[in-house]
Amino acid sequence: MTPLYIGLMSGTSLDGVDGVLADFDSAGGALRVLHHVARPFDEPLRQELMALNSPGDNELHRAALAANRLAREYAQVSLALLEQAGADRSQVVAIGAHGQTVRHRPLEFDGTGYTLQLHNPSLLAELTGIAIVSDFRSRDVAAGGHGAPLAPAFHQAVFADPDHEVAVLNVGGIANLTLLAPGRDALGFDCGPGNALMDLWCQRHLGRPYDAEGAWAAQGRVLPELLSSLLAEPWLASAPPKSTGRDLFNPGWLDARLSDTTLRPEDVQATLCEFTASAAAQHLRMLQAAASTLIVCGGGAYNTQLMGRLAALLPGTEVIDSGQRGLPPLQVEAAAFAWLARQRVLEAPGNLPSVTGAQGPRVLGGWFAA
Ligand SMILES: Nc1ncnc2c1ncn2[C@@H]1O[C@H](COP(=O)(O)OP(=O)(O)O)[C@@H](O)[C@H]1O
Ligand SMILES: [Mg+2]
Repeated sequence: MTPLYIGLMSGTSLDGVDGVLADFDSAGGALRVLHHVARPFDEPLRQELMALNSPGDNELHRAALAANRLAREYAQVSLALLEQAGADRSQVVAIGAHGQTVRHRPLEFDGTGYTLQLHNPSLLAELTGIAIVSDFRSRDVAAGGHGAPLAPAFHQAVFADPDHEVAVLNVGGIANLTLLAPGRDALGFDCGPGNALMDLWCQRHLGRPYDAEGAWAAQGRVLPELLSSLLAEPWLASAPPKSTGRDLFNPGWLDARLSDTTLRPEDVQATLCEFTASAAAQHLRMLQAAASTLIVCGGGAYNTQLMGRLAALLPGTEVIDSGQRGLPPLQVEAAAFAWLARQRVLEAPGNLPSVTGAQGPRVLGGWFAA
C-alpha cells in the first residue's frame, strides 16, 4: 500500500480550494496526482476573506471564525478525495494545507515582518482524523526570507529539464515565475498580479467571478497610457528575491491609476490582461532568461487571451500550459503542498534560499498529529 498525501491550496484569487490526492514513486520520489477536487467558496466566505485582507472592525474575532470555516472547507475537499479514491484516511500520511493568506509583509516593520495564513489545522485534524502540516511560510520568514514563493522547489522537482532552460509561470491571484536553468540555482519570485486585477474588474462590471477564457478582454483594445502607468509601479523593477500579495495589488491600487472614468470597461480589461502578460515578460527580460519553454499553470492558464499575449511578447519561447507536462494547471499548486507536506515528514527542506532569500534551507511547516 503506497503512502498517500493530500495537498490543499486556496490562493489569492479567493476562488476556492483545490485539493489533490497524490502518491510518490518509491524509487525516485516522483509525485503522481491520483485525484483532484475543486470546491468553490460560497459568496459570504469569499467576501469575508476579501474583507479580511484589509484592516477592519473586530478582525481577530472574524479571522478566527473564518479560519474555522476554512478548515471545514478543507475537510470537505479531503474527504471527497478519499471517497473518489475509495481510500481510507489511514493510508494518508499527512495533509499539507496552506491556509488563506490575508497579509504578506515579510522583512517589514521590525525587520522580520510576518506572513499570515488563516487556518485552523487542529480543527482540520479533528474533522479528518489525518495529520496536518501547515504554516509553511513562517519559518522561512523567521530565517530572513520572504516565505514566498514556495512552489519553485516543487517546480524544480517536476519541471526541470537537464538540457534546456525552462520557466514556469503560475498565474493565480498573484503571478510567480520560476527559472530553471541546467547547472544553476533555481530562481523564483512573484512577478506581478496574476488574475487579481482582471477578476476584480470583471466582477465590478460584469458581475462574473472571472473573464472566462479572457473573451471579454479580447473584445477590448489595450490603452497605452493606462498600461504605462500600471507598468510604472516601482515594485515591478525591484530585483528578486521579492514577493507580494493583495497588500499591493488591490482595488485601491487599481483605482488610483484609473482616474479617467470615460474609459470603456472592455478596454480596461484588455489592458489589465496585457499588464499581467507584460509584467511577466519584463521579468524574464530583466533576468536575461533564455527559456526555450514557458510552462504556465494556475487558473490563468485557461485565459486564452492571456496565453496569446504571453506568446506574442515572448518570441522564441514556446508557451504551453502545464497539462502538456502532465500536471493540469489547477493541480500544480495543490500538488506543491502535498510535496511540501512530504518534505516535512522526511524532515527535508522545503524552501530554496536562492528564491526566498532565507539564510539557509529550512524544514517548513508545523505538525498537527492525527
Ligand atoms: N476558464 C478560465 N478562463 C479564464 N480565467 C480562468 C479560468 N478558470 C480559472 N481562471 C482564473 O484563475 C483563477 C483561479 O486560479 P488559481 O490558480 O486557483 O489561483 P489562486 O491560487 O490564486 O487561487 C480564477 O480566479 C480566474 O481568474
Ligand atoms: Mg484558487
